[in-house]
Amino acid sequence: MTQKAEPSGIKKLDEALGGGFPASGISLIVGPTGVGKTLLSLQWLAEGARRGQNVVYISTTVPVERVKYYYGEMPFLKDVADKIRWYDMIIEPRDLIPFTVEKQYKLFHKVLPDIVDEKLNLNIPVHRGVIDSLTTIEKIIGDKSMFRYIAARWIRYFTMQKISTILIEEIDIGEETSGGEMRNFTEATILMDYIESKNMYMRALKIMKRYGVNHPTYWMPFHITEEGISL
Ligand SMILES: Nc1ncnc2c1ncn2[C@@H]1O[C@H](COP(=O)(O)OP(=O)(O)O)[C@@H](O)[C@H]1O
Ligand SMILES: [Mg+2]
Repeated sequence: MTQKAEPSGIKKLDEALGGGFPASGISLIVGPTGVGKTLLSLQWLAEGARRGQNVVYISTTVPVERVKYYYGEMPFLKDVADKIRWYDMIIEPRDLIPFTVEKQYKLFHKVLPDIVDEKLNLNIPVHRGVIDSLTTIEKIIGDKSMFRYIAARWIRYFTMQKISTILIEEIDIGEETSGGEMRNFTEATILMDYIESKNMYMRALKIMKRYGVNHPTYWMPFHITEEGISL
């Protein structure tokens, strides 16, 4: 079965994913700090921008000006950095809890005023979106069941709007990479970690799931260069 996919432009990864990340679906990238989660998500957005899609990067952590400063000059991003829509999402606990649908409207409109109107309609079609990271939001909410409820609502919204979404989840180094808190909500989950090989640590990624695709399940080592992630 061939699934509709949104490719990253990283050939081996796209092949392993059956063409790319799920179109109009939710994906999750999980891993410890510095492993390359932000980079992979940016490569995927850059590929979308190169294809003329509207793509959105939302940071809940590092200010987007800094993300652009570090990654915007890298060759894979340079030509399309201006085409990506960059947003900072600064959330106060009271923006989320106690949760109401009204608050969801307000928050999305506040963060993405030119894209999302007061009623949560999109002013332009959005093809690809990244939230970097969901862990910040989880920690702000504090309560696990409340986080799951809010995450489920957001995910329904992105799916309804047919936005291909990558959610990023941070885990502590050494923490079991079992796919993260959000793994059950997603159609694709990718783990990124440092694995030991010949007494050295190297970066590797593993596709934990990708609905509809008979994907490999082994660790695939990768490198980070000026060109971004290469497998
Ligand atoms: N030009 C570069 N060449 C090689 N490695 C780089 C370059 N730029 C960044 N890196 C590596 O990429 C890592 C950052 O990846 P990033 O995607 O921000 O990690 P994460 O989002 O998982 O915390 C840095 O730790 C650094 O080692
Ligand atoms: Mg990051």
